[in-house]
Amino acid sequence: MKSRSGQDIRRLYKQFFAERGHQVVQSASLVPYDDPTLLWINAGMAPLKPYFDGREIPDNPRIVSSQKCIRTNDIEEVGKTARHQTFFEMLGNFSFGDYFKKEAIGWAWEFLTKSLEMDASRLSVTVHFEDEEAFSIWHEQVGLPESRIYRGKEDNFWEIGEGPCGPCSEIFYDRGEHFGCHSTTCQPGCDCDRYLEIWNLVFTQFNKEADGSYTPLPKKNIDTGSGLERLASVLQDVPNNFETDLFMPLMRAVERVSGRTYGERAEDDVHFKIIADHLRTVSFAVGDGVLPGNEGRAYIIRRLLRRAVRSGRKLGVERPFLAELTTVVAAMMGDDYPEVREKQSFIERVVRTEEERFQETLTEGEHLLEARIRDLKQSGLTELSGEDAFRLYDTFGFPIDLTIELAAESGISVDRAGFEAELEIQRERARSARHQFDGMQSDRTEVENITVPSRFVGYEETTAAATVVAMLADGKTVAELHAGQAGQLLLDVTPFYAESGGQLSDTGEIRTETGTCRVTAVTKAPHGQHLHSVMVVQGSLLLGQQGYAAIDETARRDIIKNHTATHLLHKALRQVLGTHVAQAGSLVAPDRLRFDFSHFGSLSSEELSEVERLVNQDIFADYEVHIEEKSLEEARKTGAMALFGEKYGERVRVVTAGDSVELCGGCHVARTGLIGQFLILSETGIGSGVRRVEAVSGRGAYEYVCEQRGRLEQVASILKSGVHDVVDRATRLQEEHRESLRQVESLRARMTHARVEDLARAAEDLDGIHTLLQVVPDADAALLREMVDGLKQTWHGASYVIVLGSSSAEKAVFVAAVSENLQHRGFHAGKLVKAVAEVADGSGGGKPDLAQAGAKSPEKVSMAIAKSREFVLQMKGN
Ligand code: ALA
Repeated sequence: MKSRSGQDIRRLYKQFFAERGHQVVQSASLVPYDDPTLLWINAGMAPLKPYFDGREIPDNPRIVSSQKCIRTNDIEEVGKTARHQTFFEMLGNFSFGDYFKKEAIGWAWEFLTKSLEMDASRLSVTVHFEDEEAFSIWHEQVGLPESRIYRGKEDNFWEIGEGPCGPCSEIFYDRGEHFGCHSTTCQPGCDCDRYLEIWNLVFTQFNKEADGSYTPLPKKNIDTGSGLERLASVLQDVPNNFETDLFMPLMRAVERVSGRTYGERAEDDVHFKIIADHLRTVSFAVGDGVLPGNEGRAYIIRRLLRRAVRSGRKLGVERPFLAELTTVVAAMMGDDYPEVREKQSFIERVVRTEEERFQETLTEGEHLLEARIRDLKQSGLTELSGEDAFRLYDTFGFPIDLTIELAAESGISVDRAGFEAELEIQRERARSARHQFDGMQSDRTEVENITVPSRFVGYEETTAAATVVAMLADGKTVAELHAGQAGQLLLDVTPFYAESGGQLSDTGEIRTETGTCRVTAVTKAPHGQHLHSVMVVQGSLLLGQQGYAAIDETARRDIIKNHTATHLLHKALRQVLGTHVAQAGSLVAPDRLRFDFSHFGSLSSEELSEVERLVNQDIFADYEVHIEEKSLEEARKTGAMALFGEKYGERVRVVTAGDSVELCGGCHVARTGLIGQFLILSETGIGSGVRRVEAVSGRGAYEYVCEQRGRLEQVASILKSGVHDVVDRATRLQEEHRESLRQVESLRARMTHARVEDLARAAEDLDGIHTLLQVVPDADAALLREMVDGLKQTWHGASYVIVLGSSSAEKAVFVAAVSENLQHRGFHAGKLVKAVAEVADGSGGGKPDLAQAGAKSPEKVSMAIAKSREFVLQMKGN
């Protein structure tokens, strides 16, 4: 067996299956497209689900890929075992209703033993215990002795959640006894490292539905998956995945950064592996537009980065170091996954920002933990609660082991079970959130069986003479649809665009001799035909009838302006913000457009104006919009932007408008000038790292301007000025308003002063003490305090005791003050106000010089103030 690099294996695999009629498809994004059941693409088959369950029909029923995958169920295991990883590549060959077990098994064997020259005597397999067919193919066709074919049950039925599934057959490579656990029951499937599962062949025959039931799929399929890193570990004869060339450059880089050597200390090795694995995952995820954040995917990326930082600390690296290692990932993987190379500087920036932020958070969290530990110690406790540990974990990203370790340094233990319980509550929340999503489409209808073709002529035409070739009502084919009935309808030729690529479908009408229906929506049927959702408004429509289909032209004209404007917007955003801007979704409607894209933080108003200006500049330049059909290969070479998650066939349309070049199946204006005008309405964040711009063009822009102008006129009329003077008038009014406020303030001050003087005159002289005990009408606590301040100034240096009270409808308030010299003679403002407030059912208190209290019975204010005389005399008596 020859040693081979990861890249060699990847390429040999694709070539092997390409030679056997498979279409080589590029890895899909790690972010599932249109599949809410998955957080990440986690298997080669995941992006191909629509082909498995018949929602879409592939151009070629044989596909081969090396798919980027993320699995995060065992994050904590990474580094501890030979093969747990969060990011991995899955090599897979797929058949959709084409070849089945015989070929899948035969080719897998041939690839392993011939192309990769694996020693056949080291290979063994498992089959589902009821799958006689697979057993006999292995035994008779391949010639594998019965002793190396194991029959399994649950392990040999492959499914992940809802979706395509079926019995499977796994291939194991025997790494030799020294890798094993030496147990007498050790055999393929054992948890130890001896028998390495290197390939899983799934005979996909069922769809697992949301309710847990299994529906047979329309056709039998093949789904296989082989972990590239495992294959590499066998071929490179290294003990674990991390020592293959798919990781080693990163391990070396960590050695350089930390000054430690991989392979010297087992505790260190774990951290080497964690850093290498997590950094690959983060680089690829960010490359696919996921930015660190607090929820879902974004949170996983944040968590992995933090674990890697933490592992760095364990290796003695205190400075940010991960960002620079992204260049290693780019160099290692960039040939076969160009996105990690092209976006390397962006990925580096994201990692750097997050790393620096986490260093700060670590410090913040450490302070918090220290404070909690102090509190515990003061109260004589020795255990940190699970809740506190969870808060540190959840808010500050503190891994539990870090909390335990730091707490232990102060002799404090951590309620680990309590922490786990909190974690489980959070997981449960996440799970139930996921379950709220619908499963895979399970209400399949007879539409799947409709294979008659339908030609789309809507790029050129808005009407078509057509024949009704199929009709459905409630998912069943019918021969007639009558007035008031809703259904679906297929034409041999149609001008109606089916919703895709963000562009909404056309609406319009289909008429035959006997009836008329309104087309409310158009979608693509499994075989690609445009399926019209209709409501019959008059008469009835019959199968086979000739008819006339016409789209609503006004809506279409508005849609195409917004669509071309969306392309110009995409280009302008990349120009202003950078090429990391990746489309994350769009909506092209008649009245507006929406564009979602990955970017850090919000856009400044200058950036937004610049984007808007660039789009309008392209509109005013009145570029001709070229649309050309090309092969995907050719199109990629021209540098056309391929859109997020879209699947492209062999032939693609390339839409060019000025400098904007995109692959797009949608409808566009002939010249950019037709868009008229483009205006951005808003820019918002819709999840971590994803921004949304909403805008209008053409008619929408006109309507928007009219509305704004109307509003301006309304403002002008309220301000009693003309539109032209409205700014001057508003500015002047502002100034006048400020001036009025100043005057009110000074009048108020003068009034207070006058009231203070009146009050001072009302004071009684008790043996040389100014004693002022008064009810002040209509005052709140602030005003009472202000008055007390005035009185203090008036009586500065003299002896005084003041108690003021006031009431409103619901409550009473008192303020008391005592001059400094009297405080030494037993007078105390706090005690005084407390005694007074109690008379009016209140409480309060405060310092000896000044205190305030509230009370519940406003009607008792006069009585309280009257009584205050007694309290003053009592204090004086002391
Ligand atoms: N989908 C199968 C797996 O992931 C091949 O194991």
